[in-house]
Order: sequence, then structure tokens, then C-alpha cells
Amino acid sequence: MWRIPPETGLLLVYLIGLAWLPAIQPLEVSVGKTSSLEALNGTDVLLPCTFSSCIGFDNLYFEWSYDQNGTKEELLKGTIKSLGMEPRVQFSTDRVVFAGNTKLNNISIILFNIDFEDSGKYTCYAMNPREKYRDHQAVFTLTVVSQMKVVDKTLTIIIASAVGGVIGLIIVIMILKKLIVFIIAKTREKNKECLVSSSGIDNTENGLSGSKPDTKATPKA
Ligand SMILES: *[C@@H]1O[C@H](CO)[C@@H](O)[C@H](O)[C@H]1NC(C)=O
Ligand SMILES: *[C@@H]1O[C@H](CO)[C@@H](O)[C@H](O)[C@H]1NC(C)=O
Ligand SMILES: *[C@@H]1O[C@H](CO)[C@@H](O)[C@H](O)[C@H]1NC(C)=O
Repeated sequence: MWRIPPETGLLLVYLIGLAWLPAIQPLEVSVGKTSSLEALNGTDVLLPCTFSSCIGFDNLYFEWSYDQNGTKEELLKGTIKSLGMEPRVQFSTDRVVFAGNTKLNNISIILFNIDFEDSGKYTCYAMNPREKYRDHQAVFTLTVVSQMKVVDKTLTIIIASAVGGVIGLIIVIMILKKLIVFIIAKTREKNKECLVSSSGIDNTENGLSGSKPDTKATPKA
């Protein structure tokens, strides 16, 4: 009946693989979806960072640094013995403080009294001895401004990405629909002979017309 083309199997394997991917992911560090921020000079800013690891961690090493046009300037580094344990800060400049939560794998910091020179890239790095010293890092971009723009840029970005997301979704749905229609058409094509032979049987019986007024003339040649 329904013979599934081999491409479908491959597609399924791919989709299942994608679905399983997050579950087998090793140490990962993230500075959030936005990963950049505009902040007013003279204020304190939170530089966000979280990590995740599917198998947990022991003595996780973490480090925040600033990219001083090419060279790395360390801001804060330390270790976390295990989940929920207070971090052991090994080094920190007097302008930053640990602001995370080790119960939530949160290793954010606060940078005090920012100035224009603080604009740039901040790297959050982590290394997990339990995962054979696997490491990962993420970069957060800070832009220090003297005045916040009145127009809410984030809202524009949210709207733009929402619209983009919806359009993307529609495109994906359209492609999927095309693909499904194509697969169905292909399958139908293969089963055409069967369909034709079964529908070819004529079920109308002859001679069942009971009320035929014209019985007088039945010319038989
Ligand atoms: C921000 O920088 C401007 C220009 O250097 C300065 O006049 C202003 O006082 C600063 N604002 C704060 C809050 O430090
Ligand atoms: C590096 O940055 C400093 C300011 O932080 C600047 O004075 C210097 O010219 C920069 N060096 C290079 C090579 O761009
Ligand atoms: C991490 O901690 C900071 C400070 O407590 C908080 O503002 C931030 O939302 C937390 N991030 C996540 C992803 O929970």
C-alpha cells in the first residue's frame, strides 16, 4: 500500500537527531539570547552568563575577561566545587563582583561605574574537569552611551524578530507542505496501477430499470 520513500527515512533520522542533540550536549556557556547591551556611562551593569552541562561538574573553572583590543584583560576568575557551593574567587579587579547563583549555574558579574572605555567585548569562559577539561566560552558586547535613545530599540527588535519568526514559520510550513504533497504524489504514482485496476470494475448492473414505459417497441435485430 503506502511505500515510504527512502528519503523520508533519512529525514526522520535527521529530525530525531536534532531533537536529541540538546540532551547529549557537553559544557556550554551562554550570555543570553541578546548578548549585547547599551548602557549609560556612570552606571553599574550586569554582564550575564550561565553554563550548562549534561553530566554536571566538579571544580568548574570560570573566568570573565575583557578584550582590550586583542589582549585579554582578566576581570574575575574562580572555581565552583559543585552545584550550589559558593564560588571561590581567585582573582577579581575592584570594579567587578560575582553576581551569579551557583545553584542555577549562573556566573554573571556586575561591572561598576562604567565609562566609555568599557565598551567592547566581554568573554565568559568555563572549563569542566569532569568532562575531560572541556571548555566553552561566550562573548557579550557592551556599548557605553552618554544618553539612552528615547526610541525603545528592544521593542523594535522584538517586533522585527517576531515578524521574522512568523514569516520564517510560514516558509517552513509551506516547504513542509510542498514536501508532503510531493511525497504523497510520488507514492500515489507508484501505486497508480493498483488504484486504476480496482476502480476499473464497473458495478452498474444491467436490466434493473423497473419502470420503463416504452415496452411496446423492442426491436430485435
Ligand atoms: C557621562 O559622560 C559625560 C561625558 O563624559 C559626562 O559629562 C557625564 O557626567 C557622564 N555621566 C555620568 C552619569 O557619569
Ligand atoms: C588599544 O586601546 C587603547 C585604549 O584602550 C588605545 O589607546 C590603543 O591605541 C589601542 N591599541 C591599538 C593597537 O589599537
Ligand atoms: C543570573 O543572575 C543575575 C543576577 O542575579 C540575574 O539578573 C539573571 O537574570 C540570572 N540569569 C539567568 C539566566 O538566570
